[in-house]
Amino acid sequence: MRFDVLTLFPEMFPGYLGQSLLNLAIQRGLVEVNLHNIRDWAKGKHKNVDDRPFGGGPGMVLSPEPVVECVEAVQQLGDSPGRVVLLTPGGRTFNQRVAEEFSDAQRLVLLCGRYEGFDQRVIDILQPDELSIGDFVLNGGEVAAMVVIDAVVRLVPGVLGDEQSNKQDSFSSGNRLLEFAQYTRPREYRGHEVPEVLLGGNHPAIAEWRKQNSLERTRQRRGDLLDQGDPTKTSADETNESSAVD
Ligand code: ADE
Repeated sequence: MRFDVLTLFPEMFPGYLGQSLLNLAIQRGLVEVNLHNIRDWAKGKHKNVDDRPFGGGPGMVLSPEPVVECVEAVQQLGDSPGRVVLLTPGGRTFNQRVAEEFSDAQRLVLLCGRYEGFDQRVIDILQPDELSIGDFVLNGGEVAAMVVIDAVVRLVPGVLGDEQSNKQDSFSSGNRLLEFAQYTRPREYRGHEVPEVLLGGNHPAIAEWRKQNSLERTRQRRGDLLDQGDPTKTSADETNESSAVD
């Protein structure tokens, strides 16, 4: 899968991209991340990328020309133009379902904003998928782009050692339960014991304990997930069941 990140701060990315699972996925050729500096498409001696807003007000607005021209030039670089995603607090909210949807794409072009946002004509012309990672305002879209890359890369086939492991992740379409508690050695730490059932090797009993623990944690912390139907069923299961009744 190919990612292209368009940003005014490409130097923010290599440290993050060079670590752990993501680095491994890149080394193994499963994922490619290309960084592009929007300023390279700015014209004039000062390479300005922003200007004051028409109508007044604080801050600066990213100008349409360098942004649109950067996106169009980058889209020419690959086999397909890819899906353009603009990171903004005003977008639809990113979640595991959107990550699953994106992981089916061959290519994502992630556009990171700064300052007071983009000139509206960037959105009108490019018609990007506007995406927010939550109801808070970051200083720019770069951290949000890293969040999207991180969540999507986990879902690219072959990236995780065990093909099953992302299917059981909380919030994936087959699971709306939070993860059960995990323990490793030592068996006792500062008076806190590992639950007895996990030590005995009785796998059906362990599976039942984990299921109950997941349910209990979800009930306590995220009751809203349980209100959405059977938390262990996929939405496809639920659709099939309701059509069988019709
Ligand atoms: N840029 C600034 N805040 C953001 C957010 N919450 N999500 C995505 N991009 C952003």
